Amino acid sequence: MLSQLVYVSVRNPSCTEEEIQKILAACKRNNKEKDVTGVLLYSNTHFVQYLEGEYSKISSLYDKIKTDSRHKNAIMINTAPIQERSFPSWQMGAKKFDNDEITYQTDMSSSEKVAFKSLLSGKESNNLTIGLIKKFFK
Ligand SMILES: Cc1cc2nc3c(=O)[nH]c(=O)nc-3n(C[C@H](O)[C@H](O)[C@H](O)COP(=O)(O)O)c2cc1C
Repeated sequence: MLSQLVYVSVRNPSCTEEEIQKILAACKRNNKEKDVTGVLLYSNTHFVQYLEGEYSKISSLYDKIKTDSRHKNAIMINTAPIQERSFPSWQMGAKKFDNDEITYQTDMSSSEKVAFKSLLSGKESNNLTIGLIKKFFK
């Protein structure tokens, strides 16, 4: 069943920008074959990843990603069936964000910014989440 999965995690200080490029190279290498698409938002301190594809593929990928030492404290925010993909042509779109400058980088309202910050702390799990993530990729 076509599904989505969103998690947040804490970027380890040892995960340099060079390591981010290696992660994106792994996405390119592996996600196409699994027919997984999605986006990776990252800041100096956090990751937010949105994965979409067959449920079995994204859940096994998440199990593998969780064990990666470049981050920790992965919290699953949402997993649910979807009708169609939001990012059908992206093996893994990526964007760096600044935790303190979110409103300057997106068209988020101040209340959405509060919701995004609570998402980063693993507290937000409602269906606004994907809408907030999409705002970074307009
Ligand atoms: C935040 C984060 C997101 C990641 N996302 C993916 C992903 O979408 N696809 C993927 O194959 N690897 C992803 N990885 C990397 C995997 O943990 C793992 O290192 C990689 O899949 C190994 O690839 P290989 O078996 O081709 O060497 C991610 C790692 C981190 C830290």
